[in-house]
Amino acid sequence: MRVLVITGAGISAESGIPTFRGAGGLWRTFNAAALATPEAFQNDPETVWTWYRERRAGVRTAVPNAAHNAIVKLASHAREFLLLTQNVDDLHSRARWNGSSVTPDQLVQIHGDLFVTRCSRCTCSRRDENGDGTGVPACPCCGAPMRPGVVWFGEGLDPHSVARAERFVGDARADAVLVAGTTAAFPYIIDWARRAAGSSGRIIEINPDETQLSRFATTVIREPAAIAVPRIVDDLIANG
Ligand code: OAD
Repeated sequence: MRVLVITGAGISAESGIPTFRGAGGLWRTFNAAALATPEAFQNDPETVWTWYRERRAGVRTAVPNAAHNAIVKLASHAREFLLLTQNVDDLHSRARWNGSSVTPDQLVQIHGDLFVTRCSRCTCSRRDENGDGTGVPACPCCGAPMRPGVVWFGEGLDPHSVARAERFVGDARADAVLVAGTTAAFPYIIDWARRAAGSSGRIIEINPDETQLSRFATTVIREPAAIAVPRIVDDLIANG
């Protein structure tokens, strides 16, 4: 079985991490959306860092839920597998099934990684999984301010990540495309899901609400991810 899984913030909702657009979503509270821009970082990097450190702290205390773990199970059973997530949290990496996890080559974080700290000028970067400093970190290579390794409004996607997604989608048709917990607000998400499925592959959407992808889905499951994903994964493994 060749499987593409696409996830968004909704898959981490049951782990206690806020989504972006729903009730209580990040983009609806104070001026979070205004902080996720290169301009905000230029004008006030301290405030941007404070906000991202708060988000890092929230993610560090969160644990993967049944949906994250079931996706690892699917990865272990699939012949070819890619997990394309818009999430910057690390719950997909920390998820386990039978002691195994998704491998780095099975995972693309298309909107970046909350725990990467990278230079705003050169290519220097590091991971800050365990601890955070204070203030605005300076690049050890060139001294410029370092920034969170996430994609902000108005920025392009990382070309290497796009190339990996394109390669998987372009190589061959996926038997199943599972899309869970995303509003699919970005056209490239819908495009990847549809192209991967081709004319005969299945697109299974798991989301309590209708999305822009819903009309292209062959199966729509209006349930929370932690309930529906484990069931769908078992069904895919049993029936292909
Ligand atoms: P959104 O916040 O836009 O959407 C979350 C989706 O999850 C909604 O469609 C909800 O209906 C659904 N949802 C909520 N609870 C759920 C649950 N328990 N199980 C399943 N689904 C649930 O988040 P994304 O679609 O991930 O980008 O947003 C995409 C991108 O927009 C994010 O990566 C972020 C944001 O701007 C960047 O930061 C670049």
